[in-house]
Amino acid sequence: MLTVSSVEALRDQVAQWKQQDNIIGFVPTMGNLHAGHLALIDRAKQAADKVVASIFVNPTQFGPNEDFDSYPRTMDADSEALVQHETDLLFTPSVETMYGTGGQTMMVHVPDELNDMLCGVSRPGHFNGVATVVSKLFNQVQPDIAVFGQKDFQQLAVIRQLVKDLAFPIEIIGHETMREADGLAMSSRNNYLAEQERQLAPHLQKALLELTEQIKTGRQKTETAIKNTLKQLEENGFDVEYVEIRRQSDLKTPELGDNSLVALVAAKLGRTRLIDNCLFELE
Ligand code: PAF
Repeated sequence: MLTVSSVEALRDQVAQWKQQDNIIGFVPTMGNLHAGHLALIDRAKQAADKVVASIFVNPTQFGPNEDFDSYPRTMDADSEALVQHETDLLFTPSVETMYGTGGQTMMVHVPDELNDMLCGVSRPGHFNGVATVVSKLFNQVQPDIAVFGQKDFQQLAVIRQLVKDLAFPIEIIGHETMREADGLAMSSRNNYLAEQERQLAPHLQKALLELTEQIKTGRQKTETAIKNTLKQLEENGFDVEYVEIRRQSDLKTPELGDNSLVALVAAKLGRTRLIDNCLFELE
């Protein structure tokens, strides 16, 4: 695996591969890789001839009171894992390379209707930061396909709209959420959980599965089912930010006849904010 930090070295290598007609797959990450990230690499490997991964903890997607400084940085272990999964190139730009040393950067603005809901409410500016860094990375890497996890479902929707609206010639592949044996969605932030919190954390997925089951079988009205889920999570020690049912296609509130739905949740256990979601179909 080649590791490069400059855009020039990245572009030279990718251009050479493209000249040889290789399809370029890309997996952007913030590092601290776990099996969820590595599944994205494996998926990219299936769809492409050469796989580029990036590790960059992106300052513009963290709020002032969020965990940018303490976000786990584990470059050596990450690099080893990427080699094991046959990644061809690792791009590790510095903050200066991505944002320069001067004044403000040009930012991509996510439309309000996608931004001002779900995670966007408690994390203002977060998705603009994601859309901006992903646009930069797409222009630097110039991949044919890029793979993102479905765990960050709103992020995936933002990326899909970004690619459509700004005409990036890149196919976006969403990959299913990888889970621990007890159902907890894999996330770098799981490392922050204290032992007792870690034991409570799988309730998040359980609650979502019960919620979607209740709605699918029509046993409960959606509003009642959501209220019950909220109560159940609070009883298990979660500080719930939202529990919502949305359309899979655009995350808007479902209307009669919308059958491809997603249940989404964000909740805190102690100081750790967790998110999860569950896709489901109405008959
Ligand atoms: O999902 C992530 O790890 C990040 O939001 C991403 C897509 C790498 C952008 O910084």
